[in-house]
Amino acid sequence: MKNKPIIVFKNIFFSFDKLSVIKNGNFKIFSNEFIGIIGPNGGGKTTALKLMLGFLKPQKGKISVLNCPPKETRSFIGYVPQTKAYDKQFPISVLELILTGALSRLSFFGRYPKAVYQKAKNLLSLFDLKKYKDFPFSSLSGGQAQKALLARALIGDPKILLLDEPTANIDVQTEKQIFTLLKKFKKTKTILIVTHNFDAIIQNVDRVLCFRSEISSMKPEDVCSHFSLGMYHKKVEMQNG
Ligand SMILES: Nc1ncnc2c1ncn2[C@@H]1O[C@H](COP(=O)(O)OP(=O)(O)O)[C@@H](O)[C@H]1O
Ligand SMILES: [Mg+2]
Repeated sequence: MKNKPIIVFKNIFFSFDKLSVIKNGNFKIFSNEFIGIIGPNGGGKTTALKLMLGFLKPQKGKISVLNCPPKETRSFIGYVPQTKAYDKQFPISVLELILTGALSRLSFFGRYPKAVYQKAKNLLSLFDLKKYKDFPFSSLSGGQAQKALLARALIGDPKILLLDEPTANIDVQTEKQIFTLLKKFKKTKTILIVTHNFDAIIQNVDRVLCFRSEISSMKPEDVCSHFSLGMYHKKVEMQNG
């Protein structure tokens, strides 16, 4: 039997001014599920994650995260926002970046507890980033930067991980490494990942949420390439005559 839902969207409507983004969104996500989120650009995937974090509020409907309004549970969520290459120009070392994921643990004197440093060290090893710890974050490759952002999201030991295209524009090997690690974290966390990589989805996740004009839930094996073509391209109209 399924356990209690961790994230619930009930009759959610969200629009930016006149642009309707989510129309009557309904879904439940259960603990320790590994969810793939797919859909065309502009389908509302990033918006949905921001609604879960309480950064945005729906005009209609109810969202609950860990049985509470989203704002109240933000500290239980590790978030990797969707980034572009130019976002990396941040004057901070790799270790410092990871530690910013634990800012709430900073003492009055601006120091992190020893356990936080230890956690950062373990994450650096886990993601093969140990030798880059004092490098500027901006000097990392795309794949290394995404791993550092994932480590940052994990340092607070979140119950939920929200990952917005963490494997976009990175090499295949690093992408595989990230999915392998995420599968391990699945034992203790609920993970939602936005990705356009259908192979990775089919091989790794438990369930898929598809954001198009509406939100639908499906099994990974039902996300075949035929479907993805239908989702990303309009049907070719038959010409008369
Ligand atoms: N801050 C904003 N103000 C106005 N429109 C926005 C804003 N953020 C996103 N949008 C629009 O909302 C729609 C959904 O965006 P988004 O959730 O980012 O889609 P996805 O992540 O699926 O590509 C898009 O049409 C986008 O242009
Ligand atoms: Mg997006």
